[in-house]
Amino acid sequence: MCGIVGAVAQRDVAPILVEGLKRLEYRGYDSAGLAVIDRQGVMGCLRRIGKVRELEDALGEKPVQGGTGIAHTRWATHGEPSERNAHPHTSDDISVVHNGIIENHEELREQLQDLGYIFASDTDTEVIAHLVHHERKTSTTLLEALQKTVVQLTGAYGTVVIDRREPDHMVVARSGSPLVIGYGIGEHYVASDQLALLPVTRRFQYLEEGDVAEITCGKVEVYDRNGALVQHEIIDSDLDHEAGDKGSYRHYMLKEIFEQPEAIANTLEGRLTEAHVAVESFGHNAREIFSKVEAIQLIACGTSYNAGMVARNWFEDMGIPCRVEIASEFRYRKAFVAENSLFVTISQSGETADTLASLRLAKDEQGFIHTLSICNVPGSSMVRESDMAFMTRAGAEIGVASTKAFTTQLVSLLMLVVAIGRCKNRLSESDEATIVAELRELPGVIRDVLQQKEAITELSEDFADKHHSLFLGRGTMYPIAMEGALKLKEISYIHAEAYAAGELKHGPLALIDSDMPVVVVAPNNELLEKLKSNMEEVRARGGQLYVFSDPRAMLVAGEGIKVITLTEVSDLLAPIVYTVPLQLLSYDVALIKGTDVDQPRNLAKSVTVE
Ligand code: F6R
Repeated sequence: MCGIVGAVAQRDVAPILVEGLKRLEYRGYDSAGLAVIDRQGVMGCLRRIGKVRELEDALGEKPVQGGTGIAHTRWATHGEPSERNAHPHTSDDISVVHNGIIENHEELREQLQDLGYIFASDTDTEVIAHLVHHERKTSTTLLEALQKTVVQLTGAYGTVVIDRREPDHMVVARSGSPLVIGYGIGEHYVASDQLALLPVTRRFQYLEEGDVAEITCGKVEVYDRNGALVQHEIIDSDLDHEAGDKGSYRHYMLKEIFEQPEAIANTLEGRLTEAHVAVESFGHNAREIFSKVEAIQLIACGTSYNAGMVARNWFEDMGIPCRVEIASEFRYRKAFVAENSLFVTISQSGETADTLASLRLAKDEQGFIHTLSICNVPGSSMVRESDMAFMTRAGAEIGVASTKAFTTQLVSLLMLVVAIGRCKNRLSESDEATIVAELRELPGVIRDVLQQKEAITELSEDFADKHHSLFLGRGTMYPIAMEGALKLKEISYIHAEAYAAGELKHGPLALIDSDMPVVVVAPNNELLEKLKSNMEEVRARGGQLYVFSDPRAMLVAGEGIKVITLTEVSDLLAPIVYTVPLQLLSYDVALIKGTDVDQPRNLAKSVTVE
């Protein structure tokens, strides 16, 4: 959601903070701000509504400089997007940035008001600033004041605090919202995502739940929730320094769509042998665990949930029972847990609040035999808290609309299905060899599909003046229709709904007229004839069809039907391949409509609040 950057150095940190914010802007972009303390203990604070470039412009006019600083890009939860609600929030000498939600902020606000504190914003964060200020009066150090503060907070926080009177350090705390410490030479940093710090370091230490830390130029000291000094592993990031750049592409989303062949090749790299999926790539004891697994529970949100919906079909085709559920529903009901079930979270970020809460529930209270995270961010909370982790290796995904993260999730899930299928003897050796051979072909097939960009751009012109649309599919293509509809609505703001095509006549058919484009994902498979009947139902009512299909399906363009013909692929790979033209369609429609493709309104990447 929001993004945090902090730095302590012998030089001016404002440029480090601004560059970091730009790299985190995809996480929240309704306002941004920073606070910097110079050696004389003068604190400069600047906040602006809107994007980071507004803050940068303001800095150009009114520079603030100093060796210790914190910065934040916001996605509003408590209090409208405005300058007064932008972070940092200050309480006299104390300045604070915060990600997450303080659930007991109203109660704390009242207590602090009784103590004479005056609130300048509508945010929950401001209570942290005043509480630290209050606790600082009776603490020997700023760290102690923060420790006394966090025990009073209910909710989620990743927070960084600086004090004008102690300009040589910052203190940080993490619970429910990630923070990573970056190690430089004679300077140290903190951020909510390592991406922010890649221009200055590649060495990182992730904080664990309940940790607090004190960071100066010369040292980093981390304490766990019991106050014991701890040292977590310092990792070398393998993220590309250029990961945050658009290159020659107009938008991150387009770049990420076109990166899919390479991203998928990376997902497969080293995990396929001649004719097998290497089961050990899921963990050293994966073979033993997978042999015992009798059912699968997939949990995810949004696009990642759609990936889970596809995988359910794959698992059950192999005779392995599989449930898939939206995390925000799962965590609040008494779900039935089948014996010997494997709990699998699917998440690009590894930080989505509801998915993470479901994982914790699965571990602490439900009888799952093991937990596995399919994730794109090494070191993320889900990866660290799951028994096993399988990285999707899509590379940094900056566009808010998930593209390469989704297709690499599908590839990862397909490998999981194969690995479990083989361990349980539900898949023959020769069928495994066929799937492995198809997976190897996949990057090339996606490259072919990307060649259709121009034809899809032409199609997109028909959508630009529409307000509603339907997406239809059957079997594994129904979740792909869901994904297509989600992409279109989130970046073009055209209302888009997906239906399993057989459901059409149970209600949605009433919506069909010439103003309702109907997108159909129709590869040649055993459900094609049924789907063709559904298409006829639309055409007979004056609806306009936009069909993605292959040569074997023999669908011909004509009155009321436009067809994009893709390369022929197996049923298994079709969901992955047919995702790509739908991504391109959404992108092109959004481009014509002039929306903010990479940072659509009201949304943010990585939803770390409930
Ligand atoms: C849509 C999109 C979201 C995410 C969802 C879950 O394009 O990106 O629907 O898929 O917020 O996020 P992760 O996968 O990070 O758990």
